[in-house]
Amino acid sequence: MLKRYDGAGKVSIKGAIFMQELSARTRQLAFASMRRFADLVADEPDAIFLTIGQPHFPTPAHIAEAAKRAIDEGFTSYTPNRGILPLREAASAYYERFTGYRYDPGSEVLVTVGTTHAIDIAMRALLEPGDEVVIPAPAYPGYEGAVRLAHGTPVFVDTRSTGFLLTPDALREAITPRTKLLILASPANPTGSVYSEQQLSDLASVCVERDLYVLSDEIYAELQFAGSPVSISQMPGMRERTLVLHGLSKSHSMTGWRIGFAFAPAPIAAEMAKAAQFSVSCPSSISQMAALEALTRGQEDSRPMREAYRANRDLAVRALRDMQVPVEAPSGAFYVFPALPKALGMTSDAFCEALAREAHVALVSGMCFTSYGEGYVRISLACSEQTLREALARMANFVERRRQHRAPHGA
Ligand SMILES: Cc1ncc(COP(=O)(O)O)c(C=O)c1O
Repeated sequence: MLKRYDGAGKVSIKGAIFMQELSARTRQLAFASMRRFADLVADEPDAIFLTIGQPHFPTPAHIAEAAKRAIDEGFTSYTPNRGILPLREAASAYYERFTGYRYDPGSEVLVTVGTTHAIDIAMRALLEPGDEVVIPAPAYPGYEGAVRLAHGTPVFVDTRSTGFLLTPDALREAITPRTKLLILASPANPTGSVYSEQQLSDLASVCVERDLYVLSDEIYAELQFAGSPVSISQMPGMRERTLVLHGLSKSHSMTGWRIGFAFAPAPIAAEMAKAAQFSVSCPSSISQMAALEALTRGQEDSRPMREAYRANRDLAVRALRDMQVPVEAPSGAFYVFPALPKALGMTSDAFCEALAREAHVALVSGMCFTSYGEGYVRISLACSEQTLREALARMANFVERRRQHRAPHGA
């Protein structure tokens, strides 16, 4: 029973929560159903799960040791809202290695509770009701939720015919007088696409010309397979309009530690810090000590992981092409996003369900990444080579059977 007090001080009693009374902003959101097809095969002893977006490596031992030391030494209290200064200094120095310029640890760097939290407070700090946010799609589902919770309107732009990369023309077409922000991820989830320096420079020109902010999600930067990562924040006129987001979940296999970073011009960082104060106070003190270790003595930690994902990428792309399935070879991150369902004339959801039931392989439907993901599936490469080989062999069998089934008799 729920008790409600009306304005006149009377109490009324209700038996149920009326959904209409709850926030329209949360009601309009749906859970990202990444695990939907994994749940279908959860009880199968031979099931293979290529669903989850997290490294299959343990957190490096020296990082875990730093966290244990923090506990033993009683470093277990609240920290400054923006994170401890030595960690902000280390993050600033770490990022400087990529870009060659420095974010001031005092005023331009925040430590956040994962990159997810950085995305959330960036939206809260930037958006006014009705502001439009351009998001190249297929897109990571975390952006839409954060935009909507901050009263913004996501505007998805289809990138399927341009190698999953936003072009300056497509960006120009999506811009309206309400457009405030562009979200760009490189390497991207779910497609693994990476923007070249020239492509970033061309997009930056549009952002400067049309006065847009950019949220540059660089959480997969260390997992770029070729060349050094380039940030749109490095392009002329961009530093003052770019919020760079980073994190340790993927680069250092630290998904559960919940540490991310935001680098932003001081006035924006200050607004984000306020939003962080009222949502989390500060990130975990223990995780911050682990993160400090990762950034100061773990700079090479991602190298073997990146090599393993690259080898898995080569294996998966070769196998998919042998199946005559259209696939872009991803240039980073640990996903491949082939048009497998489309190749069989199936919807993404129907394909994932049939593959799970018949082959006991769980993938993520392209529909988790907006409707522009229809016809595709996301395969996670964060698994052992042996597991991937077995999954690909089962997929090849499945594809073969489906094609035989569809072919007219005698053909
Ligand atoms: C593109 C992208 N950005 C941000 C995140 C959030 O990562 P975390 O909150 O663990 O730092 C993810 C996680 O999958 C992601 O794929």
